[in-house]
Amino acid sequence: MSENGKLRLTELGALVERSQPIVMVTAYDYPSGRLADAAGVDLVLVGDSAAMTVLGHDSTVPATMDEMVMLARATSRGARRPLVIGDLPFGSYQVSDEEAVRNAIRFVKEAGMDAVKLEGAGPALSRVRAIVGAGIPVMGHVGLTPQSATMLGGYRAQGRTAGAARRLLDEALALEEAGCFAVVLEAVPAPVAAAVTEALEVPTLGIGSGRECDGQVLVLHDILGLYEGRSARFVKRYAEIGASIRDALERFAAEVRAGEFPAEEHTYSIPDDELAAFEGGLADRPPSRRGR
Ligand code: KIV
Repeated sequence: MSENGKLRLTELGALVERSQPIVMVTAYDYPSGRLADAAGVDLVLVGDSAAMTVLGHDSTVPATMDEMVMLARATSRGARRPLVIGDLPFGSYQVSDEEAVRNAIRFVKEAGMDAVKLEGAGPALSRVRAIVGAGIPVMGHVGLTPQSATMLGGYRAQGRTAGAARRLLDEALALEEAGCFAVVLEAVPAPVAAAVTEALEVPTLGIGSGRECDGQVLVLHDILGLYEGRSARFVKRYAEIGASIRDALERFAAEVRAGEFPAEEHTYSIPDDELAAFEGGLADRPPSRRGR
């Protein structure tokens, strides 16, 4: 751990050596960053899943760099101990290495990110080299890569044929070779993810990819039961916060409408003499326009 208490990148390898699974969650704002920190998670990902969970889009594709920087800045104020990773949104790194580096730098300088994540291999390898070359750690992401879900034929498991599994392994190895400090494996059959994990020196973080990965990641809103859209097979809900929030809001609305809120204990007093003086000064006020 560094002087300011933040987990060091190099400590991830130590966790793997001790066979201690790495814990990563997404977070998108100050309270969720703070709670993830308090819960002792190792890595916080400001995922572009925010496009769906926070911004209400149907996919991750519309997320913009400006939106991600705003969410990431708030998250890093809350998450002090975990390493915080900014997810480069679609369009922020596809065009050129220069643009990828520029946007990765925005995440670090404007939003306090410790590292960035991008999806895919192939052309993304050159982006990884360029960003790592600029001194910014990069996390890779293969398997189901939601930014290119249309190309992949939808949100479906990847690497389910011998050939596809081999390509996935080669992509993960190429990302490691390009300089990634870790690789997310999304929706990959467990035995394939286990083989990839075995082949890589850097840690793998699985989402829907079985227990043999070096760590696990889930989307915060899925863990909390806060996302109402259809959940993937690999999601486990650990709470039903959405139902609790709705219940609280319904009770608030009912109490306001019934005149029960605010009660005496929720209001401030004014000394009697001050109130009398105030009311005396209103003697010449115009008649009420409320008709009461
Ligand atoms: O955007 C995101 O939340 C992600 C995780 C699912 C890994 O990329």
